[in-house]
Amino acid sequence: MSTSHVVSSARATRESGGQIVRYTLSERVHHWLAALTYIYCLITGLAFWSPYLFWLAVVVGGGPTARFWHPWFGLAFALSVAWMYKMWRNDLATTDSDRRWSKSMKYYIENEDEKLPPVGRFNYGQKLFFWLMFYGVILLLISGLGLWFVESIPWSLRWLRYLAVTVHVVAAMATIGAFIIHIYMSVFMEPESFHAMIRGRVSDAWARTYHRLWYEQVTKGTSEQK
Ligand code: HEM
Repeated sequence: MSTSHVVSSARATRESGGQIVRYTLSERVHHWLAALTYIYCLITGLAFWSPYLFWLAVVVGGGPTARFWHPWFGLAFALSVAWMYKMWRNDLATTDSDRRWSKSMKYYIENEDEKLPPVGRFNYGQKLFFWLMFYGVILLLISGLGLWFVESIPWSLRWLRYLAVTVHVVAAMATIGAFIIHIYMSVFMEPESFHAMIRGRVSDAWARTYHRLWYEQVTKGTSEQK
């Protein structure tokens, strides 16, 4: 086992009144930028994917407008994920506590959190979500650039064009699945998580219940072992 420590990158502080800062303003702004740009790419991408969904492009200004902005929003999304990586990479590294937690994941799915081992700032499911988005965005970016400048791929290499379309669709589908789970878990299963991403703060009780090791790190100055 490595002896290095994972120190949370959150500027986490405990405030009077039993509140803990979970997300700084900068973290929230970057997160919502990722959410906004992803949702735009999702709406316009689905519109290009199926004629049955083309009405979605009409909702956001029409086909040509959507076609113009989709790749630019895609670039902005990729940048905001890169920013998340820069901000949270320490908190997103897999630790021993995650390995223990992953073996008990069924309790998480069955909503029996009290039976789960303690975790740090993010649980293993949250980390998996981020890494799926991270690798997904790399594939979307590479294949997306191929589609954006498709004319520069010679017809003799047309298999590259087909590959770009396939990779773009498969990576988009994977991120859509992960995104739906992300919304369900963070907005509907744990409503206080959603408030944390709006106001930045959580209660002592919430931090103790869902992210015990992070809570101890913030309140007692301990750090999580890798
Ligand atoms: C409308 C869209 C979205 C909503 C409502 C939403 C909501 C949330 C909430 C409430 C949290 C806090 C969870 C907690 O602290 O327990 C969170 C965290 C996070 N969000 Fe989102 N999110 C959205 C879109 C996205 C997108 C597109 C990404 C793309 C990478 C993303 C990446 C993350 C990451 C990495 C975290 C921290 C780890 C985690 O909780 O999974 N979110 N989000």
